[in-house]
Amino acid sequence: MNVLVLGSGGREHALVWKLRQSKSLNRIYAAPGNAGTAQEGTNLPIDLDDFEQIGEACIEYQINLVVVGPEQPLVEGIADYFQNNRHLVHIGIIGPVSAGARLEGSKAYAKEFMRKHRIPTASSYSVSSDNLEEGISFLKSFGQGPYVLKADGLAAGKGVLIVSELEEAVNELKLMISGKFGKASRQVVIEEFLSGIEVSVFVVTDGKNYKVLPAAKDYKRIGDNDTGLNTGGMGAVSPVVFADNRFMNKVEEKIIKPTIQGLIEEGIDYKGFLFLGLMNVQEEPYLIEYNVRLGDPEAECILPRIKSDLLQLFESVVAGKLAGCQMQTDDRYALTVVVASGGYPGSFEKGMMITGLNSLNDCVAFHGGTGTDISTGGVKSTGGRVFALTALGYSLEEARTLAYENVAKIQFKDAYSRKDIGLDLMRYQKKYS
Ligand code: AMP
Ligand code: GLY
Repeated sequence: MNVLVLGSGGREHALVWKLRQSKSLNRIYAAPGNAGTAQEGTNLPIDLDDFEQIGEACIEYQINLVVVGPEQPLVEGIADYFQNNRHLVHIGIIGPVSAGARLEGSKAYAKEFMRKHRIPTASSYSVSSDNLEEGISFLKSFGQGPYVLKADGLAAGKGVLIVSELEEAVNELKLMISGKFGKASRQVVIEEFLSGIEVSVFVVTDGKNYKVLPAAKDYKRIGDNDTGLNTGGMGAVSPVVFADNRFMNKVEEKIIKPTIQGLIEEGIDYKGFLFLGLMNVQEEPYLIEYNVRLGDPEAECILPRIKSDLLQLFESVVAGKLAGCQMQTDDRYALTVVVASGGYPGSFEKGMMITGLNSLNDCVAFHGGTGTDISTGGVKSTGGRVFALTALGYSLEEARTLAYENVAKIQFKDAYSRKDIGLDLMRYQKKYS
């Protein structure tokens, strides 16, 4: 099979890396890709919003399967575009049609879906300029903060505000509705604040059947001990010690099964990943959000723990035959540390030459914001999150030590990584063992 992976981050490099291990893979392409995907296959310089060019490339390179990394093309209807084009309809797509991608593209819709299908979640109220006063009354009804305000649409991970004072919440609500996050926040979802530990659960589905992939914990803030600005994610750990069998059974019964059943009832033929952002509130799972893709850096953490052939799994998804598929996972711990450009998630310099990549041992370095330097052939930085390094170990400590030994070898000007990835879970393990 010939496969095209859409995207250019660490998640997409991890997908390419894992698909390369499949016996049935013939050629692999990434669009637009990065220096890492260029080492494993062929990069095609195509913008992700140019569906026509993506379609033409699929015909030219005889692509059989397209794996969509990020959410934007899914929300904009890339799967629908392929389905409705007679030259492309035979090509399998991993990623839902736009009706399914709305679960991530509109938080108000996602909450409506959860309510309708009785999926446990925080209570909420959707507000626009038409019902602002009701929104303010809803905020007041909580009695105390923190208050959670979410832009309805895609806002590059920045659309969620958690504020402690009522007055600030009311002000922010007004600012959001008048366009603080552009069109994305003309509608705002106000949510009850849930207090607990977060975990990301990943599922792949053919629309009827599903397989649960390894769960992961993400580290979203830029600074150690979860301080500073939110980022796309600075590290990840899998498995997550508190997401044990008992908890995961509840997740399946209360969240995954009703979601798949809900999609069927809504008439949405969903083929792809579902990423459930969950809060563990006193051993009960609450769904915070749906994403319709894998997480980044969670993908770099969980894909190395999947032993099964990923391309075979994808073929079963496309054929609607996931039920007959076996999923095998590696029991070891995976720990991922992101190496970022100094200044990220604010402004940062690009074009830094990177050294040390050839001296890494017992880990995989997934490229994120990297490119090939034309004059030297070396690797240079092109983005905020430059690498995601993943190491496996029989204990969290072993995986952590290995990952950080290798992080120290990767060098470029102003390289930054969090130093505390996995420490909280190690403390948790000690406390409960
Ligand atoms: P979201 O984009 O919906 O995942 O929200 C971003 C982050 O905000 C989540 O990862 C949580 O840390 C936090 N968050 C979102 N909703 C809530 C909530 N209802 N209660 C507490 N924290 C929340
Ligand atoms: N790491 C979080 C995300 O990909 O949304």
